[in-house]
Amino acid sequence: MNFWDNTIRYFWREESFAVLTMVVCIAVLLFHVRKEDRKTLFNTLAFFAACLVGQFVSSLLHTLEFTRAADVFHEMFIIGSGIAVIRLWGELIFRIVLPLVRLSPPRITEDIIVIIAYVAWGMVRLRYAGLDLGSIVASTAVITAVLAFSMQDTLGNILGGVALQLDNSVEIGDWIKVDDISGKVVDIRWRSILVETRNWETVVFPNSQLMKNKFVVLGRRIDQPVQWRRWVWFNVGMETLPSRVIKVVEESILQTSISNVAKDPQPSCILMDFDNKGYARYALRYWLTDLANDDPTDAMIRWHVMTALQRENIRLAVEERSIHITKGNERYEEKGVSQEILLRMKTLRRVELFSQMTNEELRTLAERLRYVPFSRGNIITRQGDLKSHWLYVIINGEVEVHLESPEGMKRLIGSLGKGNFFGEMGLMTGAPRSATVIAKTDVECYRLDKEMFEEILRARPAIAEEMAHLLASRRAELDSALLDMGAGSRPVAISQRRTEILATIRRFFGLA
Ligand code: CMP
Repeated sequence: MNFWDNTIRYFWREESFAVLTMVVCIAVLLFHVRKEDRKTLFNTLAFFAACLVGQFVSSLLHTLEFTRAADVFHEMFIIGSGIAVIRLWGELIFRIVLPLVRLSPPRITEDIIVIIAYVAWGMVRLRYAGLDLGSIVASTAVITAVLAFSMQDTLGNILGGVALQLDNSVEIGDWIKVDDISGKVVDIRWRSILVETRNWETVVFPNSQLMKNKFVVLGRRIDQPVQWRRWVWFNVGMETLPSRVIKVVEESILQTSISNVAKDPQPSCILMDFDNKGYARYALRYWLTDLANDDPTDAMIRWHVMTALQRENIRLAVEERSIHITKGNERYEEKGVSQEILLRMKTLRRVELFSQMTNEELRTLAERLRYVPFSRGNIITRQGDLKSHWLYVIINGEVEVHLESPEGMKRLIGSLGKGNFFGEMGLMTGAPRSATVIAKTDVECYRLDKEMFEEILRARPAIAEEMAHLLASRRAELDSALLDMGAGSRPVAISQRRTEILATIRRFFGLA
């Protein structure tokens, strides 16, 4: 038998073909399915190939009759290639097979099981090579005891990491709070947990610290969506009944959809305290769904509370000190008021509907209308609402007009901006609101009521005619949208509709 035959026979064993085929199949599968783990795969395959080369070199040594050395090296490289195969199986089972059956054990479990398999494989092979395992175990036990003693902290961290992962007390993506630091868990490692804070910092918590001390997992409850209760505080003077404050704030928040605010449980407003400064302290509690956005969402809520109270003429309480300053200086206040009236008159003059009015008429109007701000998303009028007492003039911002068919289909009819008005259909005819108007941006409006409008119409009947025309064309737009959505009948001609509307307005306001 020649040199190469001898070498090949020592190198290529009965099981070699099966092992190689298995490695190639697993590698191809992992390569295609686990793109993110390709680097690990290449490293494992490189290690496996190195072990194969090692086995071949051992075979050469064997043919050259260095039998003892050849056997030792060969066994070492067999153990090495076995380790590579175990690693591949570990990845196959934990990263492809288990996720397929909807199991995703933490990475640390995979690591532990793979390490146990390595040790078992090593022991089996050593036993097979004729080594006395008893003495090895005894000496490893002594070494382990010495190591464990000198590495108490590190081991504590490692075991802490294992425990935290196994009992699922923290998972990647959770928001946790430890002392005064809170942030999102981005990685759980053998020794530590990495937490990214909202201030763009990364905090490293040793696992043993989390094991020994209490920490809070924010917004997490068993079998519930992740949402975290927030408290937004505000003060209102004692002169306003708490039930009114609560109703105004809750109604406004509940009818608006604000990003990152959970629908269930609903936000709620409660009276929390009577302060000795003379005001009542309230809190609006809501559930935040995206924990990264705490301050911006609080700010949106505050803005909604503020505008809701302003619309109802309820003032947020201020420190007594500032009340004295304002009240004490009446001339200053008067000046402020008249400047406000002048500003209102200037704004009203730019609204086409009022452009023909005299200065005196405009002044009366300016004195009596109400400034009402809305936050983005607020529903200002709701289709079908019977309480349609107000007309709104937009002085800043934009609103959207939406129509809903009786079958529940929704359609955007259009947008209205600065200088436009809405709500006239209900106010002037007494009909329910014909459409839903929603604040597209933050919106500032002036609000007029029926009595105020009646005075204007008596003084200037021409306005009724102008309005009747606008009402008729808006109504026609709504009718054709309804027809488009498969509801309603053929629209009536605008001129005919105008005459009908004018008659309704006159009747409603008792005009001749
Ligand atoms: P009102 O019916 O009181 O309440 C809803 C308001 O939406 C309505 O008054 C109009 O002011 C406004 N509106 C209805 N249809 C249109 C339209 N086609 N274009 C602009 N605004 C409209």
